Amino acid sequence: MTLSEFQRLASGIADEGEKLVAAAQDAAGLEEARTALVGRKAGRLPELMKQLPSLPPEERKEAGAAINSVKQKLEELLDARRAALTTTAPDDRSIDLTMPARRRWKGARHPVTLVIDEIQDIFRELGFTIALGPEAETEWYNFTALNFPPDHPALDMHDTLYLDEGVVLRTHTSPVQIRTMQKNKPPIRVLSPGNCYRRDFFDASHAPMFAQIEGLAIDEGVSFVDLKGTLTHFANKFFGKTKTRFRPSFFPFTEPSAEMDVECQLCHGSGCPGCKNTGWMEILGSGMVHPRVLTAAGIDAERYSGWAFGMGPARIAMLRYDIPDIRILYDSDVRFLEQIAR
Ligand code: PHE
Repeated sequence: MTLSEFQRLASGIADEGEKLVAAAQDAAGLEEARTALVGRKAGRLPELMKQLPSLPPEERKEAGAAINSVKQKLEELLDARRAALTTTAPDDRSIDLTMPARRRWKGARHPVTLVIDEIQDIFRELGFTIALGPEAETEWYNFTALNFPPDHPALDMHDTLYLDEGVVLRTHTSPVQIRTMQKNKPPIRVLSPGNCYRRDFFDASHAPMFAQIEGLAIDEGVSFVDLKGTLTHFANKFFGKTKTRFRPSFFPFTEPSAEMDVECQLCHGSGCPGCKNTGWMEILGSGMVHPRVLTAAGIDAERYSGWAFGMGPARIAMLRYDIPDIRILYDSDVRFLEQIAR
């Protein structure tokens, strides 16, 4: 090979290298080009370098210089292309600057949790403490001690889920009343949130598992006035100044019993589909603790009296946040929860 032939081959590699490097679209493509051009094993430039000894000794220096300058040029091209590929310039094909930024994912407290916490805060200010009880409960605590006669229709109403002979998934939080009275002497003021279970259909207003909050106050000389005053105070604190009313009701464990309604929070009393045009929404069941219940729990019913209530925080969350279907509360869809989160 002659020197001019050698130089021509070297500059041919330089020209071709320029095209190859420019054509590389990503890091892998660029690496391919680099290997083909200067790769130690079979790169075109090292291959040409191997031909060096075939030149007459006095021409080798100049040939070597040609190789070096091509090598340097190729390295520069590769470096520049590498830099261009890693910093993608914001050109209008790759980034739409008018697009809204993606929001950061944020966890959210569940509306039912928010409601339970808020209710607890209101009653805590009134001197109530928290008492918890088991979700797997004996029939005695769930029914018998609460004055349910053995074949009372209320048992049907509760559509009980049985775990075992005499053991149920509690159908309400009222058994915690009994457990609390067994363990503590009056005065008693407790609030008991927890999950309850009923064999219900899962529809817009029923769920087979639901939260309840039980309240219990026992002392000497406690009357229905205390019940009414406390629960009215609660409604005004929770909903903001609101109308309330008590309607007679029935529970085996309270006598007399009453359900409390608040003015419909959606239409403020004028009537809407949310309140079935009544202008009212029921939020809790309550009553004076039946003397038989006090006795069953070991409290002297001659000396002490008390009242209790039970309310459903899911229902209250639906009222407060205008949620039309209880099932939304069980989907845990963050897009929904975030709208209510605080
Ligand atoms: N336990 C009743 C229910 O689940 C509610 C209630 C509790 C009523 C306490 C009166 C007193 O429906």
